[in-house]
Amino acid sequence: MTLPSRRLQRLRDNRHIRELSRSVRLHPEQFIQPLFVIEGLAERQAVPGLADVHRESRTSLPGRIEQDLELGIRKFLLFGVPAEKRSRDFRHDFTSACIADIRARFSDAVWLAADVCLCSHTPHGHCGILNDSGDHLENEATVAALAEAALQYARAGADCVAPSDMQDGRVAAIRAALDGAGFGRRAVMSYAAKFHSAHYGPFRLAADSAPAADNVLRDRASYQIDPARPDDALLSALRDADEGADILMVKPGLPYLDVLARLSAAIPLPFAVYQTSGEQAGMDLLAGRGLADARRAQLETWTAFARAGARMIISYAARRAPLYLKDS
Ligand code: PBG
Ligand code: ZN
Repeated sequence: MTLPSRRLQRLRDNRHIRELSRSVRLHPEQFIQPLFVIEGLAERQAVPGLADVHRESRTSLPGRIEQDLELGIRKFLLFGVPAEKRSRDFRHDFTSACIADIRARFSDAVWLAADVCLCSHTPHGHCGILNDSGDHLENEATVAALAEAALQYARAGADCVAPSDMQDGRVAAIRAALDGAGFGRRAVMSYAAKFHSAHYGPFRLAADSAPAADNVLRDRASYQIDPARPDDALLSALRDADEGADILMVKPGLPYLDVLARLSAAIPLPFAVYQTSGEQAGMDLLAGRGLADARRAQLETWTAFARAGARMIISYAARRAPLYLKDS
């Protein structure tokens, strides 16, 4: 009888040799936890579909961060939701006040990125200023409004601003606004490769940002990237790098691993991946029904992100990473 020539199973045989052989490693340091804060909310509310994720109030938010610090998570991405909807002349005082609270209370113990977009502000739920007939976003006017939001968040103490709107030229405009006001040390993380995806469901409930059903412009297909056009993601990432983005993001995560691998190989900036609310809810619902092991399912997806080239992982389950990784 002939024996197999190459016994690949020798390096799979026990946990010690598996640990020694790995080339991909995860660490709690690389995780960013998204946070939602809602103006006028009396009590924190669970977000449908997401385990242990809440819409926080200005008062409950610092306690949540305190808990996360105890768990070993120090980096955050904040989504602020104002009480009043406006089509232009947006107000950023609520989100800015929450940022200032966090900075005052935690100083440099936390790294805080603020999402910059307008879909939680507008009555129609689109990510910018609509033209009069409501069939497209006014790119220039929207970019100016986004730069103003970014500037206010930086002034309030955000370490990083993260535009998620997908308008052309916003990274350059935000960079110029920050630099012009003396915030040259604050970083820009661009949602550069953000696809028009069906995996944003729970987020839109949490951030009250779904496009309204009676809009002329029905969805975000005219400004987010088409899932079938990966070259657009490369062009978008190259452009944003050129405009001064410090960090580039691919979003969603698992459905776009090919894009993450391609872009991170092509562009020598650190890449973040955003494991979206829909992706998370899929896993949490499976685990909740006993159809998947929550920890193993989660670690497998995070490992895939690191393998594909992500340096940073934005995940609703980030606060579970220290626990999940302790005994992996
Ligand atoms: C809005 C925004 C979205 C997300 C981050 N910022 C959703 C969207 O574009 O509709 C997605 C977050 C998620 O699903 O976790 N600009
Ligand atoms: Zn938006």
